[in-house]
Amino acid sequence: MSLSVETVATKPYDGQKPGTSGLRKKVKVFTQANYTENFVQCILDANGAALAGSTLVVGGDGRYYCKEAAELIVRISAANGVAKLLVGQNGILSTPAVSSLIRHNKALGGIVLTASHNPGGPENDFGIKFNCENGGPAPDAFTNNIYQLTTGIKDYKLVRGLQIDISKVGVTTYDVAGKPFVVEVIDSVANYVRHMEEIFDFAKLRDFVSGKSTGKPLKMRIDAMNGVTGSYVREIFLNRLGASETAVVHTTPLPDFGGLHPDPNLTYAKDLVDTVAKGDYDIGAAFDGDGDRNMIIGSKAFFVTPSDSLAVIAHYLEAIPYFQKNGVQGFARSMPTASAVDLVGKKLGKEVFEVPTGWKYFGNLMDDGRLCLCGEESFGTGSNHIREKDGIWAVLAWISVMQHTGKSIEDILKLHWSVYGRNYFTRYDYEECDLEPCNEMMATMEKNVTAAEFVGKSYTSSGKSYKVKQADNFSYTDPVDKSVATKQGLRIVFDDGSRIVMRLSGTGSSGATVRLYIDSYEKENVLGQASVMLKPLIDIALEISQLPKFTGRNAPTVIT
Ligand code: G6P
Ligand code: ZN
Repeated sequence: MSLSVETVATKPYDGQKPGTSGLRKKVKVFTQANYTENFVQCILDANGAALAGSTLVVGGDGRYYCKEAAELIVRISAANGVAKLLVGQNGILSTPAVSSLIRHNKALGGIVLTASHNPGGPENDFGIKFNCENGGPAPDAFTNNIYQLTTGIKDYKLVRGLQIDISKVGVTTYDVAGKPFVVEVIDSVANYVRHMEEIFDFAKLRDFVSGKSTGKPLKMRIDAMNGVTGSYVREIFLNRLGASETAVVHTTPLPDFGGLHPDPNLTYAKDLVDTVAKGDYDIGAAFDGDGDRNMIIGSKAFFVTPSDSLAVIAHYLEAIPYFQKNGVQGFARSMPTASAVDLVGKKLGKEVFEVPTGWKYFGNLMDDGRLCLCGEESFGTGSNHIREKDGIWAVLAWISVMQHTGKSIEDILKLHWSVYGRNYFTRYDYEECDLEPCNEMMATMEKNVTAAEFVGKSYTSSGKSYKVKQADNFSYTDPVDKSVATKQGLRIVFDDGSRIVMRLSGTGSSGATVRLYIDSYEKENVLGQASVMLKPLIDIALEISQLPKFTGRNAPTVIT
């Protein structure tokens, strides 16, 4: 039976502007009549002529509304001339898995259903993000185009009668207005696991994890936080690497993440931190809802900052077969990320890039063969094996480094600092503030710090003095396509290289979240406590920004 295409009249919704990582709103916003339909139609339209006959990947982190949205995308794609969809079983695919699938299948792109680390459930967040054919998040020009289209949309296309069961793996071919349309429901983990096996030496890691090569099993605690990584974690760490059942927790993806806030940091992954703090584990790790973020802690919950994690992996790339095979190109980090990796890059004679916040900014450099490893302070680490950050990849990288060095995580870090010096780093988040005063705060601070007399000023707190060397609102020119991103965060750099960075989050779904990043480098004094070492600079940042006055907050919501 041939299915017919219907054109449904609609009206634009305000505010369908993708943020740092796609469109994120409350579920209640997405479930308004035609809201999701409009946005999906505009994503497809933004692909222009390339859409007809294309293959797309569809999947998400399993949060509330994922399955419904996936089915809707199937019906809208069928109506818009897409030839084939690869859909994760039950709508489940981690963000790194989508990126890998797009690349392996030479798809035109993928639609990722996630609000990443934001809480899920009917009262919480949902999100839709488009990734392009390189497997990475759509660049600014593309998402701006999507947004423009949403402001003028008049109708969308739909194959209403298309029946689909995405709970079963298999291929179904439909006849849509005389043309074949294929939906392939795929095993959510198989392709990704194969990809990891190509990158890492699983046989070696299995011997290490099981204790065959060392005489004692590696004691791991991997916390999937009820997000999408659960199924991947079980297959990789239990089935392939032979870890014991007790090594993994929260591995059932739940629509509301079981009430957890699936953001792997010291605040939201408290359960992991408290458990590992007792001293019974060699490594603890957690991921966010869609599996692209990671947190690594060592025995007794020894915290590895994401900036240090990146630098250490960069130093030991030879421990990972992928890099032996493909060579080592440059490194990169986002601007607010502490510059520990720069020192490794310098030592190895590699290019190091500083890009705005957002994984999409790494893509061009990778496609151009200039970048192989990058990371962000926001618990993102990854390589050019895909075009997203990759939480499980990061844990496999760390286990490879542990196997390679035979050292504990704490000893690996201490050795690293003794060679390179240490970048003390912290981030203060002030979540759900009122937007207006935050905008005003940023505008006032920008004016103050970019005034001519600001450079050269000295600030003193708790006996430490810092002299301003440079201050700006960070802007970035992509070295490959020369596109320019402006106003990416206020940055004050002091004489000794220490930095204060402040920006508003681009991933929230309501209000404003202020992020204050503090980065301070010490060559010799590397074993101090970060909170103590950074206190003077934090006080100076609060003084310069007048944050308490503008936001009414005396303390951050989250410290990482
Ligand atoms: C997402 C992106 C990251 C980015 C982060 C920033 O996780 O994938 O690349 O660093 O958002 O979030 P923010 O809330 O600081 O804009
Ligand atoms: Zn994420």
